[in-house]
Amino acid sequence: MISDQLAEKIRSKSAKVGVIGMGYVGMPLAVEFAEAGFDVCGIDLSEAKVERANAGDSYIGDVPSSVLAPLVKSGKLRATTDFSVIRDFDTVNICVPTPLRKTKDPDMSYIDAACQQIAEYFHPGMLVILESTTYPGTTEEVVLPMLEKGGLKVGQDFFLCFSPERVDPGNPKFQTKNIPKVVGGSTAACTELGRLFYSQALEKVVPVSSTQVAEMVKLLENTFRMINIGLVNELAIMCEGMGINVWEVIDAAATKPFGFMPFYPGPGLGGHCIPIDPFYLSWKTKQAGIEARFIELAGYINGQMPHFVVNKVQNALNDHSKAVKGSKVHIMGVSYKRDIDDVRESPALDIILLLQKRGAEVSFSDPHVAQIRLEHGTMCAKDGDAVKSADCVVIVTDHSAFDYKALVKDAKLIVDSRNALKGITANNIVRL
Ligand SMILES: NC(=O)c1ccc[n+]([C@@H]2O[C@H](COP(=O)([O-])OP(=O)(O)OC[C@H]3O[C@@H](n4cnc5c(N)ncnc54)[C@H](O)[C@@H]3O)[C@@H](O)[C@H]2O)c1
Repeated sequence: MISDQLAEKIRSKSAKVGVIGMGYVGMPLAVEFAEAGFDVCGIDLSEAKVERANAGDSYIGDVPSSVLAPLVKSGKLRATTDFSVIRDFDTVNICVPTPLRKTKDPDMSYIDAACQQIAEYFHPGMLVILESTTYPGTTEEVVLPMLEKGGLKVGQDFFLCFSPERVDPGNPKFQTKNIPKVVGGSTAACTELGRLFYSQALEKVVPVSSTQVAEMVKLLENTFRMINIGLVNELAIMCEGMGINVWEVIDAAATKPFGFMPFYPGPGLGGHCIPIDPFYLSWKTKQAGIEARFIELAGYINGQMPHFVVNKVQNALNDHSKAVKGSKVHIMGVSYKRDIDDVRESPALDIILLLQKRGAEVSFSDPHVAQIRLEHGTMCAKDGDAVKSADCVVIVTDHSAFDYKALVKDAKLIVDSRNALKGITANNIVRL
């Protein structure tokens, strides 16, 4: 049987593994399978990424070049822009972007394009796994028809799964290898092959009964996070109105040994996942006539946080007899979370634009980001001297490389949106 032949190739690690989309998700996955002994080939549209990958020069923070380079040198891992290599693949993981359109509808164009390429070079005995975060039903409704078009039958001639990617860039404890991998297939045989495949390279695999369950798992996880962040952001706004320190409240509540999990307020949501994925779910449920009201509400509150931070800056300057207009405001940290270089959807970008609209002269520093693109052009990072000359410094991202003690000494006024100055008491600090 075709499934037995594929299972044997996977067990013996002679299966040729392909990864489409060599970004934050695809590159670490490709590395894990190459390290496990498979021949891995990554496909990406970006010639620059392919060139760097083939030179053993990693562009992904969680994959050191010292790990990538030996795999490239030994021939276990390579990258290409040429999709015809799919002809030789036994397995292929799709790790392409799934952004939102301006209308907050899912943008499926990347998944469509990747599947079209797979369909062109499709052959019996392949295992196809979609990893891109998407709405429940995508694998069966979008991917499967494209693959079955040529006459091959799922569960019999080829195998199809969805497996959500849970990677958390910059997390030193949990990375692709030791994050449990959920996988659900179109048929029981698909699920079993998916389970077998991942268990060759990753520590724990969690099979589920269908692709839809696997798709929904990811959306539950990210929606849970988005809504809880929305809750604490609203609590921060309430605490502000009542003169209560929200950070102290959360820390004390977190001493409860059961039934509570701390989430923290901040300047707004950022990144490729939390601000986006829940809207994939709300878009889909709307089609079934169900309003995703928690998601809409949390989205609204989280979207208000950059405005809340900018109002804090304005009030803090006013308290020092200064207007925002004409003041120098220095932003510390522009990536969407600490110790990474990713600025996608970062609230820092909104905060900068809002401050500029109010007439502030804005600069930024970030040990991981040299420049950012704004609506009207590019802005380059400034060095530490900008702190001394600023009328107000705003901590937007609490990178561990910042010298917070020196900051408190040097800055005239600090708005801390992350509680990075926890434990430090000084008259120039205004907390969220
Ligand atoms: N970054 C994260 O922390 C994270 C975590 C969990 C899930 N995800 C999900 O994983 C998916 C990928 O995210 P990412 O962060 O790795 O994105 P990314 O932008 O870092 O990488 C995607 C890569 O795909 C390439 N690409 C786009 N279209 C292609 C095509 N048709 N063929 C070949 N390559 C193509 C791009 O050039 C890019 O290198 C998304 O659905 C995302 O929501 C991301």
